[in-house]
Amino acid sequence: MSTNATTEAGTPLLEVRDLRKHYQSPGSWISRRKASKVYAVDGVSFSVAAGETLALVGESGCGKTTTGKSILRLIEPTSGMVRLNGRDLLSLDAGAMREQRREMQIIFQDPYASLNPRMTAGELVAEPLRNFGVSNGAQRNERVAWLFSKVGLRPEAMKKLPHEFSGGQRQRLGIARALALNPKLIVCDEPVSALDVSVQAQVINLLTDLQAEFGIAYLFVAHDLAVVRHISHRVAVMYLGKIVEIAGRDTLFSAPLHPYTEILLSAVPVPDPRVRTQRRLLKGDPPNPAAPPSGCRFHTRCPMAQARCAEEEPVLEQKTAGQWVACHFR
Ligand SMILES: Nc1ncnc2c1ncn2[C@@H]1O[C@H](COP(=O)(O)OP(=O)(O)OP(=O)(O)O)[C@@H](O)[C@H]1O
Ligand code: SF4
Ligand SMILES: [Mg+2]
Repeated sequence: MSTNATTEAGTPLLEVRDLRKHYQSPGSWISRRKASKVYAVDGVSFSVAAGETLALVGESGCGKTTTGKSILRLIEPTSGMVRLNGRDLLSLDAGAMREQRREMQIIFQDPYASLNPRMTAGELVAEPLRNFGVSNGAQRNERVAWLFSKVGLRPEAMKKLPHEFSGGQRQRLGIARALALNPKLIVCDEPVSALDVSVQAQVINLLTDLQAEFGIAYLFVAHDLAVVRHISHRVAVMYLGKIVEIAGRDTLFSAPLHPYTEILLSAVPVPDPRVRTQRRLLKGDPPNPAAPPSGCRFHTRCPMAQARCAEEEPVLEQKTAGQWVACHFR
């Protein structure tokens, strides 16, 4: 029915409607820059089903992290609706929101930055359990040991400090912490971008195994489209604060419709050497999100743009089954 993942069972796990986050950027007297509004996320709608991976892709600065953090209310969205299991998160007070956070976690690109360097790995994984009322020390220790085994860390690793781990091990530690309270949704913000390619595959496989075992849904933010192709069920493509295309993974990679998606995908290497693809480059830099172009935001860089594109904003419409595209001419 929509850009969403509503299943026959009814309500999707996560439902996001018309989400906006506008930052107020202060002016500077020294550089004579005027105060302005940055339209970081500007009317984004999608949903994620239980156990599903929705990838969020797009150029740097298009609003992926802001979307992920707004959903968890790690930053307060300007407006919109976010429902988790039908519950309206944006209307909750701090206490009720804290309870909801048991169900939704986030993993960052740089796990080191999000881990307290003075706590041992065991303490770090026990922390969310302690915060959410698992007061019995023996139960906590048992759960921590189980979490360590689930993410492939040895029990001896519990006594180590974060700096004593490799990048891949630290990301495993971040995943163990995220898993501690049995979440239904994990926002993964570039979780493998900082890792070596060989380690990336291990962490990706760990995430897919955990999804298969526990039915966790992922909102998976990534630059690397090869990783996205491997891990996602559906893909949403963002451009300058808006979703321009959302489709099932196979449809998106084999028959993209939005001109921006086509250009993004032309840069992905094809495994079959007999298939020659023509790499196309985006012309120009991304526009300033404080002064987005009129009409279709992509019109300043779109190879298909026509006069109408600068005047009228295209709406996200269903073009083929499950494939939603915002373009006047597709
Ligand atoms: N605290 C802030 N104040 C003002 N502008 C911000 C703030 N945080 C982010 N922005 C702006 O909002 C836009 C979206 O940023 P965001 O970090 O969500 O992008 P992103 O898609 O995650 O990029 P990347 O791929 O580089 O991580 C950017 O233009 C960014 O400069
Ligand atoms: S609406 Fe126009 S500018 Fe926007 S993607 Fe389509 S053709 Fe390009
Ligand atoms: Mg980001």
